[in-house]
Amino acid sequence: MPLPNNTAAVFLGGDAELGFVKVASTKDLEHGKMKGVEAGGKSLLVVNLEGKYYAIGNICTHMSCMLSDGLLKGESAQCPCHGSAFNVKTGGVLKGPAKKPEPFFQVKVEGDQILVNV
Ligand code: FES
Repeated sequence: MPLPNNTAAVFLGGDAELGFVKVASTKDLEHGKMKGVEAGGKSLLVVNLEGKYYAIGNICTHMSCMLSDGLLKGESAQCPCHGSAFNVKTGGVLKGPAKKPEPFFQVKVEGDQILVNV
């Protein structure tokens, strides 16, 4: 759709895709633990499930509480405010009141560094 004549186009490229960035050391995240980190201007929840690492958004899609202040039960990160639960492997909603899933991010480990594709 063409822009109206008085509308300026804004380029959103460049740093919009940062790729993999270091977010934590594996030494800081034991099995069955989760941690809130900031990377690429995003708030992320990084989780260690039996030695595999996952990352989803850390800000609850219900009313923006931090999931890292809640509880991790198996694959479920539970929000401390109203009890919504998200699957840490997919970001999917396991329990409301949240209806919208969390964003999901690719994770890789290099040496003892956890990297997330933001
Ligand atoms: S803010 Fe997370 S359940 Fe309401």
